[in-house]
Parts: sequence; structure tokens; C-alpha cells
Amino acid sequence: MDKMLNIALPKGRLGEKVYAMFEAAGFECPSIKENNRKLIFENPEKGVRYFWVKPSDVAIYVERGAADLGVAGKDILLEYRPEVYELLDLNIGKCRMAVAAKSDFRDNPNRTLKVATKFTNIALNHYTSLGRDIDIIHLNGSIEIAPILGLSDVIVDIVETGTTLKENKLEVIDTIVPISARLIANKTGFKFKNEMIQAVMNGLAAQTEESK
Ligand code: PRP
Repeated sequence: MDKMLNIALPKGRLGEKVYAMFEAAGFECPSIKENNRKLIFENPEKGVRYFWVKPSDVAIYVERGAADLGVAGKDILLEYRPEVYELLDLNIGKCRMAVAAKSDFRDNPNRTLKVATKFTNIALNHYTSLGRDIDIIHLNGSIEIAPILGLSDVIVDIVETGTTLKENKLEVIDTIVPISARLIANKTGFKFKNEMIQAVMNGLAAQTEESK
């Protein structure tokens, strides 16, 4: 069995922050800072191998064991419910899952609500808990356009600063759940590489404590 700890990092701005936390936890990998197009980096001395993947794919790598550890948004975990352990809230990448609509939108409970979203399961669970019938329109991005063009009544999407909504003249009408980045582990990896995973977890947890 591979003795190295395989860690899937989400590519992008959040990923840079996440790597900085692993580095501060004592699991640095200096070659990752070299600016090239490589996607896999390792530091055999520390026993870590990092790879950059699309943020929404991190949970797939971890669930299937290609990565022992990874960092994924709570949005992805709620939407896809991967079979992984959620070890730690890293307290970064904070945003919320919200329902938004045009400011003149008035809900008519007697009509089926048209909801555009990338997060079909989160939206369905939310409206099921309210006992509301909805018609889901699954989109892959630029969700904010849907209510403007009359494709949907509302959207369910991630809101961070609120700028995207504001610039498209939409307003939050309900918050579904707060979101942040979570450390996740493959279930088998957690068992067989437990000592090292615990060390990583403690190093990261110390930093989330500091940030509180
Ligand atoms: C997300 C989300 C919103 C935006 C919210 O999109 O879908 O469009 O960020 O951020 P704000 O409240 O700070 O404006 P993201 O940039 O992640 O890309 P996506 O369109 O692929 O979802």
C-alpha cells in the first residue's frame, strides 16, 4: 500500500488558502509553489503528495480512495452525499446557500414554484421540508440569469459577498444553510493511515482554533 498521504486540493483561490494551512501544519511541499502547469507535487520527506483538482471533484477522489484526504465545500457534501468522513470545519471559504429572486417577486403558494439551480438535491430537500411543490430547472452556471429571463421564479445558489445578486438586481429571500470548507477523509485511508491523518488534523485544527 502507498505509504504517502494523498491529498486532493481544490484548484483556485480557496485551494491556495488550504495549502497554506497544510504548510503551517508542518506538511509543506515547496515544489507546489513553482509556477507551472503540473498538477501533482510530492514531498517524500514529509510523506505527502498533493494534487490540484476541480473543487467539485475533490469528494469523488476521496470517496473512491484516489485521495486519502481532501478539502471540499459543505455545499458539495450536502448535494452529493459522498461516502467519506467529514473530519473538520476549516472555517474558510465561508458563504451560504440561499434562495434569491427579483425584488418584485411575490410567491403564490398555489402555483408550482420554478427553481433554477446547480444544487438540485439541496433545493429539493429544502422545499420538501417546507411541503412545497417545485419544478427544478438544473443549470450548470450563471444561475442568476434564470429569473431575469423568466426561466424560473427563484434560484438556489451560493452567496458569498452578495455582489453577483446585487449586480443582477436579485435579492436573498431565504437562507438555507451556512457553507464552509471541510476536511474530508477516505474511510479506508482513515483506518490505515490514521496516525498521519490525525497529525494533519491536529495541525489544521490548531489553526482553526486560532482563527476563532
Ligand atoms: C458563485 C455563485 C455566485 C457567486 C456568488 O459562483 O454561483 O454566482 O459565486 O458570489 P458573490 O455573492 O460574492 O457575488 P462561482 O464564482 O463559484 O462560479 P459558478 O458560476 O461556476 O458557480
